[in-house]
Amino acid sequence: MTLPPLHEDLVFHGPMSSSRADLLVRSLGRLAGQHVVDLGCGWAELLLRTVTAGASGHGVDLDAEAIAHGRKLASERGLTDRVTLEVGDAGAWSGKADVLIVNGSTQVFGGDPLTHTANALEAGRRFLRPGGRLLLGEGFWEREPTAAQLAAMPVPLEQYGTVAELVDLAMEHGYRLLWLSQANQDEWDEFESAHAVARERWLLAHPEDTEVRQRADQQREWRLKGWRGVLGMVYLTLVLPA
Ligand SMILES: C[S@@+](CC[C@H](N)C(=O)[O-])C[C@H]1O[C@@H](n2cnc3c(N)ncnc32)[C@H](O)[C@@H]1O
Repeated sequence: MTLPPLHEDLVFHGPMSSSRADLLVRSLGRLAGQHVVDLGCGWAELLLRTVTAGASGHGVDLDAEAIAHGRKLASERGLTDRVTLEVGDAGAWSGKADVLIVNGSTQVFGGDPLTHTANALEAGRRFLRPGGRLLLGEGFWEREPTAAQLAAMPVPLEQYGTVAELVDLAMEHGYRLLWLSQANQDEWDEFESAHAVARERWLLAHPEDTEVRQRADQQREWRLKGWRGVLGMVYLTLVLPA
């Protein structure tokens, strides 16, 4: 079974529109001469936009197919002299950056899921130069899930807090908040629908594939009875004062 890669139906591997991505790149301030590192970059669309804005970039992801697609995009845009994309464990990366992006990928640092957000904030403290910015895309509860919603999805209540709690955690780690933006329902629906359509197209061509049918049915249940309208995604542009 080989489902088509997600980048055939999505610009970003997350609930993010192009206009929101451009806004987030602007929120990072002047990028000329700055080095941006994206941990868990996927096919690196967001990183490539910072490079287009003048930065140099480095991205790491375990997914070799996504990295190959990112390299192709970099080549098509004439950016290969300023960006490198690496297949590897982003949790093992170390170095210095002016901007660190951890977008929908706090899991790259491993460990208990309840520590993932703090791990990303701590990584920023290790890797960012003074005055550096952390662009953090992280989940939060838009509203408290009901018992029925919690029972219908594989996400424990303790996994996320409110946006205010997330920002408080960032402050406790020494950051200041430059910009805050959150995915809207259209962005979520586009993201989720792209996953669904890949499976449904496959099933139309391979109706006997019970494994994909079960996965498609399970994802639809998780989405519609669990997290839709309840689980949010917030993008924080944080600065680590010098
Ligand atoms: C939801 S996607 C987000 C991708 C990207 N940040 C974006 O916004 O398009 C999460 C990504 O994390 C990557 N990932 C998960 N664990 C990883 C690890 N230990 N090292 C590198 N990448 C990892 C996955 O392969 C996937 O591409």
